[in-house]
Formats: sequence, C-alpha cells, structure tokens
Amino acid sequence: MANTDCLPFFVEGEVVKGFGRGSKELGIPTANFPEDVVRSMPESLKLGVYYGWASVDGGPVLPMVMSVGWNPYYHNTVKTMETHILNKFKEDFYGLTLKVIMVGFIRPMENYPSVDELIKAINSDIALSKEKLSTPEARDFQRNNFFSSQPDSCSGSRL
Ligand SMILES: Cc1cc2nc3c(=O)[nH]c(=O)nc-3n(C[C@H](O)[C@H](O)[C@H](O)COP(=O)(O)O)c2cc1C
Repeated sequence: MANTDCLPFFVEGEVVKGFGRGSKELGIPTANFPEDVVRSMPESLKLGVYYGWASVDGGPVLPMVMSVGWNPYYHNTVKTMETHILNKFKEDFYGLTLKVIMVGFIRPMENYPSVDELIKAINSDIALSKEKLSTPEARDFQRNNFFSSQPDSCSGSRL
C-alpha cells in the first residue's frame, strides 16, 4: 500500500540531467536525482508531490517542492524525483550534491489537459509549500543536522 508513513524522509544524491523540459517548457527548473536514488526509495512511498527543505552543495537550506513519479503529462517511462527549489539560481547544479527533507505530502500526480494547467498546479503547490513550511514544526527541519553533517559512508543515499 502506498503511504506517507515514512515522512519526514531524508534523501541525498548527485544532481543529474533530466529531460530539460522543466526550465524550457514550464519555466520551473527542477533538479533530478539519479536512478539509483529513485530506486532506493521505499516501494510504499506514495507517488505525488511533496513539500520540504533542500540544500545544494552545503549551501543555504531553502523551501522546495518535489514530484515523485512518472510525470503522466509527459508519459515518462522512468520514475523520477524532481526537486524545484524556491529560489533563483544563476547556474545549473549538475554534479553537485542535493540534500532534501521531504516533510509532507501535497497531492498525487495528475495528467493535466494542457501545459498551462500543469504550470498552474505546480504554482499552487509552491504556494502551499510556503504556507506549510512557515509553521514552527516544519521550520525545525530547516535546522536539522542532516544539512550540516558530512555524508555517512554506511548510509548510502538514504539516511
Ligand atoms: C512540484 C511539482 C509538481 C509536478 N506535478 C506534476 C503532475 O501532476 N503531473 C505531471 O505529469 N508532471 C508533474 N511534474 C513534473 C513535470 O512534468 C516535470 O518537472 C517536467 O516534466 C520537467 O521534467 P524534466 O526537467 O526532466 O524535463 C511536477 C513537477 C514538480 C516540480
């Protein structure tokens, strides 16, 4: 049974290239985790959109929204985990380490009738993420040691 019992969920991995549609078509750039990280997620983790915190290469811990699934709108055949960090970055961060804490679930993945509807849905995920992350409970995760600690060699991609 897919569920959200394992939240909050801590994930770490290298940023790899996606299909590149996020920035170009949607105007919403996303950082993709590699396949081995996606495969390391529990089978039971519900597919859909999550909110939480993210940090690239030990930088500031920023709010994020993440999609986990098959991107039905684009008929993807591989499952992806794509993080959109709520910040403007001047450069891509391919090859750098991305750490995220998935704090809560927003909604299941949907197949929208148009790209505009998909963009509208993601923008409302972003608004909801900001709201949810403003609570003291959610802000505690922003200060979590996970973001300041070095990777534990025994823990693999998932801590
Ligand atoms: C917060 C968020 C929500 C998303 N929700 C959906 C969705 O409901 N349906 C869908 O097909 N794709 C969804 N996507 C995935 C986009 O389709 C995806 O980011 C886009 O295909 C760009 O991927 P690419 O950079 O690998 O090309 C979502 C992405 C994000 C960041």
